Amino acid sequence: MKKRAFSGIQPSGVPTVGNYFGALKNWVSMQNDYDCVFSVVNLHAITQRFDADVLRERTRYLYALLLAIGLDPRRSLLFVQSQVPQHCELTWVLNCYTMQGELSRMTQFKEKSLKRPENVNVGLFDYPVLQAADILLYDSDVVPVGQDQKQHVEISRDIAERFNGLYGDVFVVPEPVIPPIGGKVLSLLDPARKMDKSDPLPGAYLSMADDADTVMKKCKRAVTDSEASVRYDPAAKPGVSNLLSLYAMCTGQTPQEAERDFEGQGYGVLKPAVAEAVNAVLGPVQARIRAYTDDPAQLDALMEDGAARAEAMAAKTLARVWQAVGLTGRPAKGGASC
Ligand code: TYM
Repeated sequence: MKKRAFSGIQPSGVPTVGNYFGALKNWVSMQNDYDCVFSVVNLHAITQRFDADVLRERTRYLYALLLAIGLDPRRSLLFVQSQVPQHCELTWVLNCYTMQGELSRMTQFKEKSLKRPENVNVGLFDYPVLQAADILLYDSDVVPVGQDQKQHVEISRDIAERFNGLYGDVFVVPEPVIPPIGGKVLSLLDPARKMDKSDPLPGAYLSMADDADTVMKKCKRAVTDSEASVRYDPAAKPGVSNLLSLYAMCTGQTPQEAERDFEGQGYGVLKPAVAEAVNAVLGPVQARIRAYTDDPAQLDALMEDGAARAEAMAAKTLARVWQAVGLTGRPAKGGASC
């Protein structure tokens, strides 16, 4: 029996190369060894304000992008979170087994509350519980994510263990899987921060939808340092090391091998080389995204099929939870209620 991998990505913006190398690329390679379930987690996105049409459009675009990077719906289950009602249902139950204190310690909640004090809604606070519901509904053994999501997977583990401690082995306890290189791709303008698809400064990130000229311009403006030698040293030279690891991830090298490619060269050579390496990855993906978005009927059919398969799995877990806590469930089709 293969282990189950689950992960999700929010349609809160067009994904960046940070999302790609930190998580999505890993999802594609895991298809060989794991039973994979991946979701476009649009319920998470409404903790921010979006125009309704923009959110719907981004959700479809992101689903198309997952297909375009090589997630194969015959091997992986791909679905849109809002099409599977059990996510909200399990969230309510898990809310009753999660402490206010532990949620208030979440780094992302603290950071996002500071960034947008005008909209610190309860959904933003409760976000990690919805994420725990996503993971636990699918009996997930591993959760491939970037470094920034480690704390959210850990709280999912804590909630699962607490629940299991009360009711027996209802949930599989999940573990995060974070790539050693790419787990935290940094902002091009401020290498003290991660690259973020919601960054107000577009120059800070390379979007998966950026055209070749934009990628070149953004790479040329990337913040480096005054030393002018291309060395991989993330602590002393975060900007240059970030560019080197991007180059390495695009060319399939280690950062140390990439460093050797630039021996004796300056940043004027490194920056355009990074842009070309990124463009070589993005070009074919963008063409495949267009092929999917140009065929809305095919996209609808894939989304419908994914949602039906996800719901069948999620309903089984939810029935175990209802049974454990003593909730009267919906009568099962053709059977008794739990
Ligand atoms: P999201 O949408 O912000 O990001 C999707 C994935 O990309 C990773 N990531 C990065 N990796 C490396 N460098 C970066 N600069 C970078 N930025 C983002 C994230 O770690 C993530 O793996 N809460 C999640 C979505 C979610 C989820 C889940 C994930 C909801 N439910 C259940 C796993 C399991 C989020 O906002 O990811």
